[in-house]
Amino acid sequence: MFPAQTYTRRRERLQAAFRDGLLLFLGNEESPMNYADNTFHFRQDSTFLYLMGVDQPGWAAVIDVDAGTTTAFANDLDLDAIVWTGVLPTVAELARGGGITRTAPAAALGDVVTNAKAQGRTIRFLPPYRPESALKLFRMLGVHPDEAKSQANVELVRAVVEMRAHKDAEEIAEIETAVDTTVDMHLAAMAMAKPGLLEADIAARVTEIALAAGGNLSFPVIATIHGETLHNHSHTHRLEPGRLFLLDAGAETALHYAGDLTSTFPVDRSFTPRQKEIYDVVLAAHVAAVKALTPGVPFRDVHLLGCRTLSEGLKGLGLMKGDINAAVEQGAHAMFFQCGLGHMMGLDVHDMEDLGEQWVGYEGQPHSTQFGLKSLRLARPIEPGFVFTVEPGVYIIPELIDRWKAEGKFREFLNYDTIERYRDFGGIRIEENFVVRERDCRRLGKDRPRTTSEVEALR
Ligand code: GLY
Ligand code: MN
Ligand code: MN
Repeated sequence: MFPAQTYTRRRERLQAAFRDGLLLFLGNEESPMNYADNTFHFRQDSTFLYLMGVDQPGWAAVIDVDAGTTTAFANDLDLDAIVWTGVLPTVAELARGGGITRTAPAAALGDVVTNAKAQGRTIRFLPPYRPESALKLFRMLGVHPDEAKSQANVELVRAVVEMRAHKDAEEIAEIETAVDTTVDMHLAAMAMAKPGLLEADIAARVTEIALAAGGNLSFPVIATIHGETLHNHSHTHRLEPGRLFLLDAGAETALHYAGDLTSTFPVDRSFTPRQKEIYDVVLAAHVAAVKALTPGVPFRDVHLLGCRTLSEGLKGLGLMKGDINAAVEQGAHAMFFQCGLGHMMGLDVHDMEDLGEQWVGYEGQPHSTQFGLKSLRLARPIEPGFVFTVEPGVYIIPELIDRWKAEGKFREFLNYDTIERYRDFGGIRIEENFVVRERDCRRLGKDRPRTTSEVEALR
């Protein structure tokens, strides 16, 4: 964990945003996979990590704004538990690591909350995303689980989002460590991939590197010859000559900060001319987007610039036609690029997605409903301290071709005859991570191959 003062300072800042009441934070519990004692890998709630610095299951904490205190609620292990888990630091010791000096048994939380409610005090909480947390809110506050998200406190959400969105130097260093390990994962995959291997062979190797670095994966590995499926987590295919391989994988450090990179490379040692052409189109969109990253620029504009650059390139290859500005405005490019250019990254790989995209990515502004643009997770002007991904791609999805062609959609912008010849092409994504500084943006992590010739040199 960071030094205790880091967490104390964060809580003081958060508390200063409120006049009175309780701020209630529920840490995560162990979560059973198939029976109670066989649990999923434990992952603490990211806001709890950020504010309390405690990475253990079964914790909760209350900031009492009127009293200016933080109390952590958790139980010390009894001897029965120690037999199975070994000795762990005490609750008091763990709390002190996060600068918290007041602790109480887990069961005391209910009384604290119930008493505050009886006194008519405001009790603010964040939207729960795990059933255990929703049930706790139901028991303590009588909030029905179906209503728990909508009854979460918007001011608390906004205050937490604004703090977590602006990463400090300690956090950026930790994210950079995650990205460095992530680069190692990608270099290893590029070095080993060859016809005959299974996708699972690559997924296993990159997982090994993430674990050996002392942390974990920041999200389930995407390692596939079907890169056209955006979040394809199946690893059952054999690598075939002539196909592209897409690896989207990231490490999470022991402190739980994420990296998130995507590489696309040929299963063979070199790209085919057709693969090279599309790759260069995606790379041009990436370069144009990165060049436009300046503090104050709305990320939506960067996304749209990326879409126009992609579309110009695809027009040059005969896949698109007509007025490219109009094509992007109307969403025709979503035949090839169906998602957003990037997302915030930090303690979560899609940072703070549990707190709601309207605050994290849109500052409460309305979202587009257009296919493609509606999947843009980050639209707001970028500010110093923001960390995010830039990840343009071209994804040839046969089902989308068939649907739009049957509907005659965007015939003035799409050359369906040419598109048909790319049906089995797959997908290309180039993803990297950036931090905004006072005047510019910086790419995070060690260097890695980016152009087709740099990629081929590693194959
Ligand atoms: N790893 C999923 C993404 O790139 O957003
Ligand atoms: Mn990403
Ligand atoms: Mn990714």
